[in-house]
Amino acid sequence: MTNDTSHLSWDEWDELQSPRPDVTDFDGIVDNAMSRRGFLGRAVAFGSGAAVMGPGLLNSSAAVAQTTSRIGFTPVPIATDATIHVPDGYSWHPVAKWGQPLFSDAPELDHQTGGDLASSDRVFGENTDGMEIFSVGHRQVIAVNHEYVNPKLNLPQNDGGTPASAQDVEKLQNLQGVTVMEVAEGEDGWDIVVDSTLNRRITQNTPMELTGPAAGHALLMTKADPTGRTVLGTMNNCGAGKTPWGTYLTCEENFNGYFGSPDQSFETPPEYARYGIGLKGRYAYEKFDARFDLAKNPNEPNRFGYIVEIDPSDPTSTPVKRTALGRFKHENAAATLAPNGQVVVYMGDDERGEFMYKYVSNGVYTPGGDTSTLLDDGQLYVAKFNDDLTGSWVALTPEATGMTAAEIAIFSRQAGSKVGATTMDRPEWVAVNPVAVECYCALTNNKNRGIKTNAGGDETPVGGPNPREANKYGQIVRWRPAGDDHAATEFTWDLYVMAGNPDVHDGAKAGSENINSGNLFNSPDGMMFDSTGLLWIQTDGDYKNEGDFAGMGNNQMLAGDPVTGRIERFMTGPYGSEVTGLTWSADRRTMFVGIQHPKAPFPDGEGKLARSSIIAIKRDDNAPVG
Ligand code: FEO
Ligand code: CA
Ligand code: CA
Ligand code: CA
Repeated sequence: MTNDTSHLSWDEWDELQSPRPDVTDFDGIVDNAMSRRGFLGRAVAFGSGAAVMGPGLLNSSAAVAQTTSRIGFTPVPIATDATIHVPDGYSWHPVAKWGQPLFSDAPELDHQTGGDLASSDRVFGENTDGMEIFSVGHRQVIAVNHEYVNPKLNLPQNDGGTPASAQDVEKLQNLQGVTVMEVAEGEDGWDIVVDSTLNRRITQNTPMELTGPAAGHALLMTKADPTGRTVLGTMNNCGAGKTPWGTYLTCEENFNGYFGSPDQSFETPPEYARYGIGLKGRYAYEKFDARFDLAKNPNEPNRFGYIVEIDPSDPTSTPVKRTALGRFKHENAAATLAPNGQVVVYMGDDERGEFMYKYVSNGVYTPGGDTSTLLDDGQLYVAKFNDDLTGSWVALTPEATGMTAAEIAIFSRQAGSKVGATTMDRPEWVAVNPVAVECYCALTNNKNRGIKTNAGGDETPVGGPNPREANKYGQIVRWRPAGDDHAATEFTWDLYVMAGNPDVHDGAKAGSENINSGNLFNSPDGMMFDSTGLLWIQTDGDYKNEGDFAGMGNNQMLAGDPVTGRIERFMTGPYGSEVTGLTWSADRRTMFVGIQHPKAPFPDGEGKLARSSIIAIKRDDNAPVG
């Protein structure tokens, strides 16, 4: 890693290491009339000149009966400063900051050293991301992801933050993974319950089990694990999910960047390319930890890119990688139930031109019943969208793909290509509406739309739910399963919103009609419904506040009414941060929100290291917030 790349986002870094193949026919076609033609074509298909929010297409009858918006707060303006802003009548405070002790044997963060190795798996980890809260008896437990590291902050005494020893690498590995922590509300607000028996750190070295179709396959066997059934650690834990039986699902996203090799003569297996695995690692792990040296352990990356199930009520439990849910750059896991009790998990693969998936269990969930194989025994599907606002989930079976069940689980992207899945504009979080049978997925942006194929050579034509070439702003697609059954293979869809900038552009880049000067944003990413059916949208986008992005300010969180389409800004994050991760206390009076990788010295102020943090937001009158 060099100073030049440490500031890059994961997808920018990936693009630098493994540029996607060009499609020369489309070379240079950016921001031109073709994209407008494509957009207008869609608008006609949607009717009424608006490309989104078709007339009641997805609204349930109960929702249609509602005539007034449920958004009850006074929206906040954009911000470009170093702190957080919430509406009048609300306040916020930090709950957990990177480096904060979970156990009393760990010291407070040393801002000179970024903390020592010995305590690095005893503190709240770096880069907070997806999270869920659980009630364990009367106790409130948050399970939360630590997606990646910011080496210049975590190893501030190293040149450029570059790891210089096995100890440096181990410290970084400890700061990632998952934290499980009890939290409680006292007179000064919410805080970590230090030394709670439920507190736990899961790192990139924690032993876990592999189950499902890929477990035990030769491609998962290594020298350290000749069974192909046990693995150390989880990595690049991005979004999350919660099962109906109260376990946590953590999703491995950009796992490729941790692998490399000092042996530049090593010929990488052809399957690596689709996943962006190459010889140059992002954190120099491969120099100090042979497990990450591809020439020595070529199968190790096949053991990452899965969804991991964790029991937050049992700190001695072994996390389980559920290979039946496929291997790709998992964003989150939106789990729900079909009417007959089958478990359905919706999932996005966050890479330009990759796919959306769902898993449907063969068995059914019954409260108190055995849930141990519900995420092992089932069918993986990939989404195909048609321009006529219909779509289908295509089963990834051996018959359809010519691949074995294990190969489908390990190389799910290649399986999706075999059945002609729709290439998407980077699917981030999926959210399932609790008051209507419908799902939403944030398609964050895609500069390659209509320009380049994905890494598997699949075309990325403008159209369907991806209607803008070189898409800078992102959109949110939603779908309703046939027969109000999440296990159904057919659905109808429309776009809930297309972000854009009507102050700067006309046409497609102005966005949809529910975008206005008062709610500008780009790159929707984190997304959750509250219990009332309001959609909360978090952004991870361009915060320069100029040019195409003028008037958008720092990353933010907005609330959207699914029925009226109204979207209002609820919160702005500190400069440079991404707002990601959202959950509510059991009494719904507190909203927990994640602030990832602030560039501003948040929240401790000037002269201190910037710390990714979870904050609590409450109403001053202590009424519920969702
Ligand atoms: Fe880790 Fe796609 O966000
Ligand atoms: Ca994300
Ligand atoms: Ca993102
Ligand atoms: Ca991020």
